[in-house]
Amino acid sequence: MDTKKIVHGAWSSRLAFILAATGSAVGLGNIWKFPYITGENGGGAFVIVYLLCVLLIGIPIMIAETMLGRRSQRNPIETMELLTEEAGADKNWHYLGWMGVVAGLLILSYYSVIAGWASAYVLKAFTGSFFDADAAQIRQLFDEFIASPIQLIFWHSAFMLATMLIVVRGVNKGLEKAVQYLMPTLFILLFLLVAYAMTTDSYFQGLKFLFIPDFSKLTSGSVLTAMGHAFFTLSLGMGAIMVYGSYLPKNISIAKTTLLIAGADTVVALLAGIAIFPIVFANNLQPDSGPGLIFQTLPIAFGAMTGGWLMGISFFVMLVIAALTSSISLVEPAVAWLVENKNFSRQKACLWTGLSTWLLGIGSIFSFNVWANVKLFDRSIFQLLDYLTANLMLPIGGFSIAIFAGWIMSRQSSEQELNMPTVQSYQIWKILISYVAPSAVFFVFLHVVGVL
Ligand code: PHE
Repeated sequence: MDTKKIVHGAWSSRLAFILAATGSAVGLGNIWKFPYITGENGGGAFVIVYLLCVLLIGIPIMIAETMLGRRSQRNPIETMELLTEEAGADKNWHYLGWMGVVAGLLILSYYSVIAGWASAYVLKAFTGSFFDADAAQIRQLFDEFIASPIQLIFWHSAFMLATMLIVVRGVNKGLEKAVQYLMPTLFILLFLLVAYAMTTDSYFQGLKFLFIPDFSKLTSGSVLTAMGHAFFTLSLGMGAIMVYGSYLPKNISIAKTTLLIAGADTVVALLAGIAIFPIVFANNLQPDSGPGLIFQTLPIAFGAMTGGWLMGISFFVMLVIAALTSSISLVEPAVAWLVENKNFSRQKACLWTGLSTWLLGIGSIFSFNVWANVKLFDRSIFQLLDYLTANLMLPIGGFSIAIFAGWIMSRQSSEQELNMPTVQSYQIWKILISYVAPSAVFFVFLHVVGVL
């Protein structure tokens, strides 16, 4: 497009992109966050709103974000600068890239803390802590664990270090390899957990909770959470998918690939829900127990089932790897920008982004123990960061991406870049991205601030 030298990596194949983008999408969002926010927001009705958001907002924006990245083959900040220039639009669009970089680092700061919990649970599974334990013992194990800032800091640091070590190696070597074996294994383990859930007498109660909507439980807050989660779980609105799209070879169909990734992501979340809620009800636990939900339920299953020792270890190992493949995509926009625009070496870029997010993560750690009573706008530091990023920054980022792709970028550019198989499929996307997705986000926001 222009003459500037491209110092940017590239995926070796379509499969590599699919694996990496799926790796980014599938993570703690699906297995840890989806079940607990579904529990907090009353189940079925929330799930329906979330699915609608994925379909009508998430998928079109995911196509748009990938397309913007691939068109420019640059990091998100530069992408926005370059494409704005191409479209002859206002310069301020590059702030969109900036907001994404910041959102990614803010998310990573607490994401790494939770991934640290999952890492610690690998060890707990290994040492047999879940063996024959009842719900109360499992709960105590968790409560004691998060009450210890030292332990949480240790695991958070270990996870952050692992993330940075992978990111330092760059796109092909670091990222591609990590995902290859993850997805199939994760699916198998989730199916086995669902099979266990079927043996509890609360299987249908769990299914009912997840899939039979009770719309009276839906508040405007839960609609916002459902929409925010559609962005979070698909890694949208902050440049992660844009960066991955920028490494995508030109001859690959963006729309087909996106549908595949979003489909896999949704299936993993639903499977996690189907596995977890029967265990919740069978043990008289509360669906709205919050961020500890999976750590208080799944170990009961591992402690009780045959082969549970190995299953427990493998499950938490998988969860950590799933988190790793997401966390690398959370820093990649920042690192790519520092390397490509600020002349940082990859090492130095990783060191600085890693250190600053690590430090911020300590705030989230304290909000589970020593600062549990420190509240800002009625929220702990962890809750505040989560709300700010998932419910505000990602939807605002996604909204802007939709406006840019639908209204600012020329039809010719998007048509050429997407190269859809039929005119109708392009047309459908164009309507969704120009009208449906942005107005949906807009109305949800209006509703939350009470205007509607
Ligand atoms: N999609 C990831 C998950 O579900 C989290 C994530 C959000 C990753 C935004 C990248 C960007 O766990």
